[in-house]
Amino acid sequence: MAITPPENKLWWKEPLHRMEIIWITIAFLWGLVMFSTMIYWHITGEQNLSNEAYRITPDAFAEKTEEMAEAYTVREEGDTGIPVVRPPPGSDVYLIARLWEWWPILELEKDQSYRLHLSSLDWQHGFSLQPTNINLQVHPNYEMVVTLTPNETGEFGIVCNEFCGIGHHQMLGKIYVVE
Ligand code: CUA
Repeated sequence: MAITPPENKLWWKEPLHRMEIIWITIAFLWGLVMFSTMIYWHITGEQNLSNEAYRITPDAFAEKTEEMAEAYTVREEGDTGIPVVRPPPGSDVYLIARLWEWWPILELEKDQSYRLHLSSLDWQHGFSLQPTNINLQVHPNYEMVVTLTPNETGEFGIVCNEFCGIGHHQMLGKIYVVE
């Protein structure tokens, strides 16, 4: 029984039971399988992107994003007051995650590449691009950078997939891809 102290306290001097060896072997092999799946999905899954991460303060990130929005806002989204920003192809684009929104709305051109920078101004959020199912973690004090080349036009939703409080389910954003 586990609740009574073992008779022989030098447990590491006991011989391994056959069952233990079997379980250790299974666990080890399963660990290798799981590890190789990460590499496999990275290469074939098209969802686990190669990204870079840099340190940045929330203030500095907000400033860069606002600068971009100021220069390239083309309209407002309906009557929401959220700017729709259309940065030049090939440029660095910034997207803020904060309680509880993705700011601003981006408008990108199909078959053009952009360096997308993501960071949070408060705490952890999750960037999930729908319906492509691209997922990235977004943390304050780090900016995540991915190269993005949209290959179809349309309206893509951004869902926050890390629980971030009472407004988590309303934390939705948008990226337009146009010709
Ligand atoms: Cu942000 Cu959940």
